[in-house]
Amino acid sequence: MENETDVFYRELPKVELHAHLNGSVSYQTIEKLIKRKPHLNIEHGMTAIDKGQRRTLDECFQVFKVIHQLVDTEEDILMVATDVIKEFAADGVKYLELRSTPREEKNTGMTKKSYVETVIKAIQQCKNEGVDIDVRFLVAIDRRNGTEVALETVKLAEEFMLSSDGLVVGLDLSGDPTVGHGKDLLPALQRAKNCGLKLSLHLSEVKSQLEESDLLLNLPPDRIGHGTFLHPEVGGSQSLVDKVLKNSIPLELCLTSNVKGQTVARYSEHHFKYWYERGHPSVICTDDKGVFSTDLSQEYQLAASTFGLSHEAVWKLSQQAIDCIFAPEAVKQQLKQKWTDVKPHVFK
Ligand code: IMP
Ligand code: ZN
Repeated sequence: MENETDVFYRELPKVELHAHLNGSVSYQTIEKLIKRKPHLNIEHGMTAIDKGQRRTLDECFQVFKVIHQLVDTEEDILMVATDVIKEFAADGVKYLELRSTPREEKNTGMTKKSYVETVIKAIQQCKNEGVDIDVRFLVAIDRRNGTEVALETVKLAEEFMLSSDGLVVGLDLSGDPTVGHGKDLLPALQRAKNCGLKLSLHLSEVKSQLEESDLLLNLPPDRIGHGTFLHPEVGGSQSLVDKVLKNSIPLELCLTSNVKGQTVARYSEHHFKYWYERGHPSVICTDDKGVFSTDLSQEYQLAASTFGLSHEAVWKLSQQAIDCIFAPEAVKQQLKQKWTDVKPHVFK
């Protein structure tokens, strides 16, 4: 924890919709992983970006490679997923959509299928232990791996959507935005959409992806990750903005991630302002709470202090995120009831 976060933001019930599993691993869990694998000679400085530090986006992706070395067995995935879920719950997150790229590790026998099964097992274990959080899973496609792997991933996600008792709800498209092209992934994304998987796509995370963003917006996705360079003021275009507005596609906005990854120069220039001022559904998220040394309470507080939001406005922001979740309507109703029940306590 870098800063003291006010009690209001800690007690605020929250919805987290953009959290990559291996980017969310905390200092404490990394410590346990390092002890399990001392031969790798990995130190903390290699797995997280501390306060005041910044890295290029490319360097951020190197960090994920280091974490992946530490997390390469089913046992690791179970521990990491369980810890991450409990940490979000402890931070006041009541509904979480975790996302992760299924990985095969020949050395340890982990397969993509067993990877997803293990994440699901962690979600179920937390549920059985009575952890106060509703967790769903989005299967992620890493854009660097191309058409075939994307199609394979969609098939896996489809299988689990049908067999996981509602826990697998959608698909994520992520990975280094400077690698690969969205057009190669369209058949897979279209198939996912047709079979009922919800789509959250990282879009316009870096400049000059107008053509790709336009193509992907035509699907259309159900939510957008980042969307940093969609609007005309930063080199995007009005026609892209119009497509987002017309379909009312919520944006998942991750302030610290974008500032530390240097796609946004400073907090005050974050595109949260552009979309929020237009009344567009904008959901505050962490992206990678471990790598970027943050948590969701801090992100809400940062948004409030940067853009001058009152406690009532922050409350509304967290409440409106409920309408953007991928779980069914009944879950939205339960969450809305929860928000109503705790409001007097939070504003006491
Ligand atoms: P994992 O999918 O659970 O292994 O989480 C780490 C992975 O998430 C990375 O290897 C990337 O593919 C993806 N990821 C995390 N943060 C970002 C981001 O800001 N942009 C694009 N992809 C990301
Ligand atoms: Zn992301």
